[in-house]
Amino acid sequence: MQTPHSNRKNEHLSLATKFWRDDNKEKVGAGFDEVRWLPGALKDIAVKDVQPQVQLFNQEFAWPFYIEAMTGGSESTKRVNAELARVAATTGLAMAVGSQSVAIKDPTQADSFRIVRKHHPEGFLIANLGADHPIENVRAAIDMIDANAIELHVNIGQEIAMAEGDRSFYWLDNLKQIIAQSPVPVIIKEVGFGMSVELLKQLDALHPAAINIGGGNGTSFAQIEQARDKKNENPIDLSAFGLSTVESLLAAKKAGIQTPIIATGGLSSAKEVTTALLLGATTTSSAGHFLEVLMQKGPDGLQEEIELWQQQLPLYMTLLGAKTTSELKKVPRLYSADLQNSIQQF
Ligand SMILES: Cc1cc2nc3c(=O)[nH]c(=O)nc-3n(C[C@H](O)[C@H](O)[C@H](O)COP(=O)(O)O)c2cc1C
Repeated sequence: MQTPHSNRKNEHLSLATKFWRDDNKEKVGAGFDEVRWLPGALKDIAVKDVQPQVQLFNQEFAWPFYIEAMTGGSESTKRVNAELARVAATTGLAMAVGSQSVAIKDPTQADSFRIVRKHHPEGFLIANLGADHPIENVRAAIDMIDANAIELHVNIGQEIAMAEGDRSFYWLDNLKQIIAQSPVPVIIKEVGFGMSVELLKQLDALHPAAINIGGGNGTSFAQIEQARDKKNENPIDLSAFGLSTVESLLAAKKAGIQTPIIATGGLSSAKEVTTALLLGATTTSSAGHFLEVLMQKGPDGLQEEIELWQQQLPLYMTLLGAKTTSELKKVPRLYSADLQNSIQQF
């Protein structure tokens, strides 16, 4: 059945793809090209020595990137979830599903999420809900896909931009309780507006298993929600709000966050994954770019793209003398004058 909630999920997919192709997208702060990798001292290293695996949640992940939360909740998004899961299984990637609140409200939609476990039976799968859901919903979302972790999104920018979005955000106590009670690791996640030093310190004090800084310059929910608001009921301009992924990573460094940081927001190449790891991310993920490749080139095209990243990453790591992803953090780098200026204001 097509409910307004399911319909929203379909619109998110089509608008996210449409805007990803828009070359004239507004820029939110420093992009990945404002960080340059410098040639460090020579090291004895060969591509075969490189180990791109990462350790997180007491698990080993074969690659420092995964398919980020996007969809589920309607017939057409079920197909997309099935395709993403098959590609994730073939390429050995972890995968997050989109918000499962639609299936908590309407259990007939649960299959559009369960399909991911069906196609990725051994995979590391991440459930997804908003930060206001009670522990019963969190357990239901985890059980629905037999999830290995759960993301709780703190998406105030998206809600404010959405005509039918939430208008109250009493999240902190709930997050604390979920983190204490969840049977799987909890990731607190932004969806594209980034995180400041202050926000990072506040979330870190809740002791989540990881924080996904979800920065700008990728999928923009300000743009998507405004485009969905065809009657212009909620005209709102968020262009002054937020931090890019690069800036958020440097904010996490400045805040001294020891909790693992996940970098999402605008990543569209192994080069950008490398830069994000160099700036301190434990791992990274991509949503909009993988979706755009899937829509343009189909599952085979997405598989090829991911395999290209898997081929390029060890080459970049060798170039930078890093045998492990943690060694990338020590690589000498140059920040653009604009980025340097932003960092000084954090
Ligand atoms: C079509 C689409 C739907 C999304 N739905 C969700 C969602 O339900 N829950 C969530 O936490 N994030 C959602 N996101 C946000 C992504 O997980 C990610 O945080 C954001 O898109 C930034 O990454 P990107 O620039 O690589 O797209 C969605 C993204 C896209 C493109």
